[in-house]
Amino acid sequence: MASYNLFLLPGDGIGPEVMTEVEAIIAWFNAQGIARFEVDRGLVGGSAYDAHGQAISEPDMAKAMASDAVLFGAVGGPKWDKVPYDVRPEAGLLRLRKDLGLFANLRPAICYPALADASSLKREVVEGLDILIVRELTGGVYFGEPKTITDLGHGQKRGIDTQVYETYEIERIARAAFDLAKTRRNKVSSAEKRNVMKTGVLWNEVVTRIHAAEYPSVQLEHVLADNCAMQLVRWPKQYDVIVTDNLFGDVLSDVAAMLTGSLGMLPSASLGAPDAKTGRRKSLYEPVHGSAPDIAGTGAANPIAMIASFGMALRYSLGLGDWADKLDQAIAAVLAQGIRTKDIAGSQPANATTTQMGAAILGELKKLA
Ligand code: IPM
Ligand code: MG
Repeated sequence: MASYNLFLLPGDGIGPEVMTEVEAIIAWFNAQGIARFEVDRGLVGGSAYDAHGQAISEPDMAKAMASDAVLFGAVGGPKWDKVPYDVRPEAGLLRLRKDLGLFANLRPAICYPALADASSLKREVVEGLDILIVRELTGGVYFGEPKTITDLGHGQKRGIDTQVYETYEIERIARAAFDLAKTRRNKVSSAEKRNVMKTGVLWNEVVTRIHAAEYPSVQLEHVLADNCAMQLVRWPKQYDVIVTDNLFGDVLSDVAAMLTGSLGMLPSASLGAPDAKTGRRKSLYEPVHGSAPDIAGTGAANPIAMIASFGMALRYSLGLGDWADKLDQAIAAVLAQGIRTKDIAGSQPANATTTQMGAAILGELKKLA
């Protein structure tokens, strides 16, 4: 049996609470002999800042680099609103993405039938929805230089962020999207703003070329990113795979998350390039929701996005795709039974805490063993 190193970074707010539910599932996998997972834990975000004044320490960065998969909870909260920009909680996450080279961020948005009424959109618009947002994660305006605020005098300042993409960055994310589309409904929608942005013109050109040269059998369409946002709330089922840059992907994936009923439902995988020798990709798995400091410690957090993120790790990093399918089935079964944390309870009161939801999912998983 292969052994894998998992590095857990629960982070802040509800991060540790939802991570606890994944730890119970990991322990069960080990106890059953389905896998051999070596688990180590570190600090990221505000909790790391409180411990040693950095958003992530060098030893924890080294452990993340050496792991087979990083499981990440969430970072941030009002407690750290005033800390210096370079060590703000989000800097830990951005450094992990950048230093591990995790350029491909996969954000599936699936609307479980039982949750179609929890969405703010009509049932027929979201029921059975299954789309995948492929977000470029290590480039664009998140990392482009210069990134500064300059004092111009006379009470005026100038803030600058730089949107920058090079050909190779667009090529590799386009290939990731086309490869994934082939395993799904074979359609890619590429979203940019070529009508106002040079990076959009280049993005469009490169995606078009990669498609023609390498993936002519996949259906490709180009959509302006603002129109894509509108189409996502009008008729999201027209999409299969949406490929887009770092900032548009951030925004569009929050929109897609709400289609599924709650931000608490959306998992994500961030993958690097396969290693030339081992074929192994560096990877990080995290829920799309944030640290939700308003509900931290109340037991109201929905652990499904974190658990489903672990499911993506089983699929993409841990060679256990069949167990990823079973975990998805267990989640669907629990939802079909009407078990609801607050975020997905609709007009009803919640009938499950974080722990109860996690235990119910593990209970269903055990039945599938
Ligand atoms: C996300 C988050 C992050 C981002 C924040 C926490 C830096 O919103 O993963 O979508 O903007 O990428
Ligand atoms: Mg976001």
